[in-house]
Amino acid sequence: MSKWIATSNQGFSPYGMEELRKIFSQITFVQLIPGEVYQFEVPLENDEVQAKLNTSELIFVRHIQPIDRMVTITGDITGDQRSLAEMIHYIDSSLAGKRVATHIRMSKMHQLTATKQQLKQAMDEALLAVGAEPVLQQPDLIIALFAHKDEMLIGFGTVQEMGSDWPGGAIRFQREEGQISRAKFKLLEAEKVFGLDYSSFHAAIDVGAAPGGWTSLLLERGLKVTAIDPAALDARIKDHPALTHLRMNASAVKLPAGSHDLLVCDMSWSPIEMSKLILKLQPALKPQSLAIITVKLMHKKGLQSIREVKERLSNAFTIIAAKQLFHNREEITLFLQKKK
Ligand SMILES: C[S@@+](CC[C@H](N)C(=O)[O-])C[C@H]1O[C@@H](n2cnc3c(N)ncnc32)[C@H](O)[C@@H]1O
Repeated sequence: MSKWIATSNQGFSPYGMEELRKIFSQITFVQLIPGEVYQFEVPLENDEVQAKLNTSELIFVRHIQPIDRMVTITGDITGDQRSLAEMIHYIDSSLAGKRVATHIRMSKMHQLTATKQQLKQAMDEALLAVGAEPVLQQPDLIIALFAHKDEMLIGFGTVQEMGSDWPGGAIRFQREEGQISRAKFKLLEAEKVFGLDYSSFHAAIDVGAAPGGWTSLLLERGLKVTAIDPAALDARIKDHPALTHLRMNASAVKLPAGSHDLLVCDMSWSPIEMSKLILKLQPALKPQSLAIITVKLMHKKGLQSIREVKERLSNAFTIIAAKQLFHNREEITLFLQKKK
């Protein structure tokens, strides 16, 4: 038997739970943060659960951590700090020489008196004492702590196992002065989550580009960009020498065959119409080109429209991943590769 904490974007926990139910026939849930964070229990050991998770597609489960230890909250700061330090000393042998990140989250119902900072400080000091290196990024191991009611639910795992090196998968990017659109964060997150480097591409098509957040990121990375949108692009990029703005509906666009090696699309439009447009535009991509596409979730038909879109796009693309990213709202992101 093992216990876990899963996290979805706010409001999407029913989708995440549904995905987990399909993988584990005997599973029970407890809500920790309504709509977002939920504990589950399955009659399998950690390794078996991890193996099943590794081979399953989880679109709406953004982050997952095991519950390896449960530490009772004492209600006084030093008491809780001491409990965490003792836990780290107890598991001492597996930590020495490792880069260790501590991720602390809590529900609204936690009974902690210590702040996140105070808990983190106690854990970091204990980590140093056992010869580990407390780090923020690129850890060998994450100690994830979720405080709920009178307990700290603690799990150990790698970035790969938890699905993110950010607490709960809530990846944050620095907001830039005068940023063109918040949408830029979605493309940045896709780059990180799917392990891409946009600067390794040469020429991108951006379908539904205005006001230009995605286009601006690709231009910054040194790509030539063909931006398609009847709407205007932001004044700060519209005259960029590497930009061609086709100010028209994407259905009217014809581009030379094999002229681009990346396609991005964030049209926020009917998923089926969007898929038709992408299939019409795809001859402009070289074989093996990659594509990042957001798929709007239409009302209650979310899962069905994702299935339909994947089916249609698989005529020309291999679906590498489908994920609701932290910066996606009523949508998910597809990562595709053109077949030939
Ligand atoms: C959510 S916005 C895109 C935001 C953009 N990714 C950014 O970072 O600034 C959606 C855009 O898609 C465009 N759009 C919708 N349908 C389109 C179509 N059929 N052809 C071209 N553009 C379209 C809209 O005009 C709108 O500007």
